[in-house]
Amino acid sequence: MQEKIVILDFGSQTTQLIGRRVRELNIYSEIIPYDKYPFGREAEEGIIGVILSGSPLSVYDKDAFKVDIAAINAAVPVLGICYGAQLMAHTFGGKVEPAPSREYGRAHLSYIDPACPIFKGIEPGAQVWMSHGDTITSLPEGYTCVASTPEVKFAAFCAGPKMWGVQFHPEVYHSECGMQLLENFTVGVCGASRSWSAESFIETTVAELKAQLGNDRVILGLSGGVDSSVAAVLLNRAIGSNLTCIFVDHGMLRKNEFADVLRDYECLGLNVRGVDASDKFFADLAGVTDPERKRKIIGADFIEVFDKEAAKITDARWLGQGTIYPDCIESLSITGTVIKSHHNVGGLPERMNLRLCEPLRLLFKDEVRAVGRALGMPEHLITRHPFPGPGLAVRILGEVTREKVGILQEADHIFIKGLRDSGLYNDVWQAGVILLPVQSVGVMGDERTYERAVALRAVTSTDAMTADWAHLPYEFLAKVSNEIINKVRGVNRVCYDISSKPPATIEWE
Ligand code: XMP
Repeated sequence: MQEKIVILDFGSQTTQLIGRRVRELNIYSEIIPYDKYPFGREAEEGIIGVILSGSPLSVYDKDAFKVDIAAINAAVPVLGICYGAQLMAHTFGGKVEPAPSREYGRAHLSYIDPACPIFKGIEPGAQVWMSHGDTITSLPEGYTCVASTPEVKFAAFCAGPKMWGVQFHPEVYHSECGMQLLENFTVGVCGASRSWSAESFIETTVAELKAQLGNDRVILGLSGGVDSSVAAVLLNRAIGSNLTCIFVDHGMLRKNEFADVLRDYECLGLNVRGVDASDKFFADLAGVTDPERKRKIIGADFIEVFDKEAAKITDARWLGQGTIYPDCIESLSITGTVIKSHHNVGGLPERMNLRLCEPLRLLFKDEVRAVGRALGMPEHLITRHPFPGPGLAVRILGEVTREKVGILQEADHIFIKGLRDSGLYNDVWQAGVILLPVQSVGVMGDERTYERAVALRAVTSTDAMTADWAHLPYEFLAKVSNEIINKVRGVNRVCYDISSKPPATIEWE
C-alpha cells in the first residue's frame, strides 16, 4: 500500500500547494474534501498523517466546515494550517475572534519552543507568511504555544503528542522555513519514508497498467502537448504495440508542428497514426466568426475524425487520456458544493463503449514533466508551452481561413523561435501571436501599405488560472516586431498585449 499524507480541504486557495509541497519532499499526498475522510480506514489506505487546510470561512460561522479532529488524531498525527489550526482551537475550547486588522504578509517568528519537533532546525527570526482575518486569542486547556510573532502570540501551538496548529502558511513560498516545518511533520513525526519519485511512480504505474490492461488494446489521442505525450510513452512502456495513438491535424497547429511532433512520436517508438483532416475543419469553419461556435465545430469535427479512425481498431477496450491531478481534484466552493472539473474528450468513452485509462491522474504538472524526463523523452516535448486544443483558430479573430493560418504561423514561428534563441522560452508559461481583424496604414519603402495588425501575447503563470503579462525586454520585442514586419507578408503592425488575467484571459477568444 502506497503510504500517503492526506490534505483535508476546507476550500483554501493554497490547498493544492500543500499537496505539491509534500510531493516535493518525495512523499505521496492526496487532497480530499473535508467531509470525505475515510475514518477508521487509515491503515488500509496507507494514511500516515493528515494536514488540515486553510479556508475562506471563519470557524465560528454557522455553516463552517467541520470534521471530527479527535477521531482522526486517535489514528494519525494531525497538522492544522490557518483555518485548520483555528478549527482545532475552537473545537477544543479555545477562542477564535476576528483579528483587529487582517494579518497578511511577511512576519518573523520571535519565539520558538526549542523542544518542539515540528520546529526542529528552525531558528527565531525565520520568515513566515500570514494570511488570516481571524486569530486565536486563547488556547484550549492543555495546549502549549510553540511559536509567536510580535503580532501573533499563538502563531503555532501543540495540542497533544501528535497534533499541532500553525496560523501561518508553511506551504507558501514566502514562508522560508515552511518546507522544513512540513518535513519535520511528515518525516519526523509521521515517519514518511520519502520513497515517492518519478522513477518509483513509473515502476509502480507500469506494473499496475500491465495488470489492469493485460492483453487489451488501448487507443489514445495525442495533441502534441506534454500530458498526452507522457501518458502515451508510459502506456507504451507497459503494453507496447497494444497502444495505438491517433494524432489529428486540424490544420491550425503551429508551423511544421504536425510533421515535427509526429516524427518525435515515432522516434519514441510509439505506434502512432497521423491523420490530416484539415480540409474538413476548414470547410466546416468557413464563414464562422463567433468564438464559441468555432470551438464547438472544432470539437465536434475532432470527435468525428477521431471516432472514424478509432473505429478501425475494432478490438480496442480502453481509451487512454492524459488527465492530470488538478483536472480531477474535487475543489470546494465557499458554499460547500463539491465541484468536479474533469474533462474527457467530449464524452468519447461512453459513445465508443470504452473504459477510461488515465495513468497520470495522480500527478501535478511538474511531476508529469519529471516522469517524462525519467522516461527519456526529449526536453523540447517536455517543456513545450501549453497550446489550446482548437489551436490557432482561437488566435485568429473572426473567420478562420488557410491564408490567415499561414500568416499567423509565420509570425508565431518568429516569436517562438525568438524566445527560444534568446533563452526566454522557459521563463514564459505560454506565448503566441494573435491575428487581429484590423488593417492599418503603414509605409514600406516608398509604398503606402494597408495591412494586418498582430498582437504578441506572452504570460507568466503557474496554472493558467491567473496570469501576468511577461515583462519581456524591449530590445527583444523590438527585434521580434522588426522581423515579423519585414518577413511576414500581409502584416505591417505589431502590438504587445499587456493585460493580466483576470480580468483578461490568456487567449483572445
Ligand atoms: P484562457 O484563455 O481561458 O486560457 O485564459 C487558459 C488556458 O487554457 C487554454 N485554452 C484552451 N485549451 N481548449 C483547450 O484545450 C480551448 O478551447 C482552450 N481555450 C483556452 C489556454 O491556451 C491557456 O493555456
